[in-house]
Amino acid sequence: MLFDNSITYYKGGEATMKIAIISDIHGNLEALEKVAEDIKNLGITLVICLGDIVGYGPYPAECLTRVQSLATVILRGNHEQAVTDTIEEAREAMKDLAFHAIEFTRTKLSTSEIAYLNSLSPSQVLSEINLTIAHGSAVPDRGWTYVEKEGLIKQELKNSATRICVLGHTHVPLVYGSAHGLYKYLPDPLILGGDEKFIINVGSVGQPRDGDCRASYGVLKIENDATSFSLRRVFYNIQKTEDAMRAVMLDPILYERLYCGE
Ligand SMILES: [Fe+2]
Repeated sequence: MLFDNSITYYKGGEATMKIAIISDIHGNLEALEKVAEDIKNLGITLVICLGDIVGYGPYPAECLTRVQSLATVILRGNHEQAVTDTIEEAREAMKDLAFHAIEFTRTKLSTSEIAYLNSLSPSQVLSEINLTIAHGSAVPDRGWTYVEKEGLIKQELKNSATRICVLGHTHVPLVYGSAHGLYKYLPDPLILGGDEKFIINVGSVGQPRDGDCRASYGVLKIENDATSFSLRRVFYNIQKTEDAMRAVMLDPILYERLYCGE
């Protein structure tokens, strides 16, 4: 597999970098467009996408095109893998609900789009900005692990060669520090101070599962060695996404869950 790590994501010399990190869009174009608007309003200098652009939602190809125009660094998620694997492998790896949506998704992507998804890496170390990013886990051979329990989060912290490691995949936002443990309430922004190491999960743009229906993504601000994190929540028109999902006969569970964020 060819992973393209040759992208120039950092020009150098910027006094302040505002990095938007989006993940788990899942074919939800309505949510993605509202997040893109928010990103534009914030004057973001770099956009990173942690994968799962496709799967579950009605607009996989449109979301891929939009993410390609928005983000400089793009990772591969397990739903991209399910699109590029054989159908038997996808069947084996996924539960019924996800698999049936993948069958739909595969019909909506061109050969070149699938080849592009196959070229993406599931994790990357952006050493110039001292940041590790992964869809599920940055620990070798644990790509699609759900890093939710404290033991796994601590292993992720130990594994990370950089001070900050940002993940997606669980669809549940989280900030965990090596000194403080889990941050139950997040100020806006949260200062990521001192020598503390952090595992951050930015949640999901297109299918949040933390009980909040608003699209979720994160912003890291790096300024003169001081770094802060803001979790952004953005309203979008869920009804429009539901209508599009109904039109292509996706399972009702997939749009009903969007209203409760679960
Ligand atoms: Fe996902």
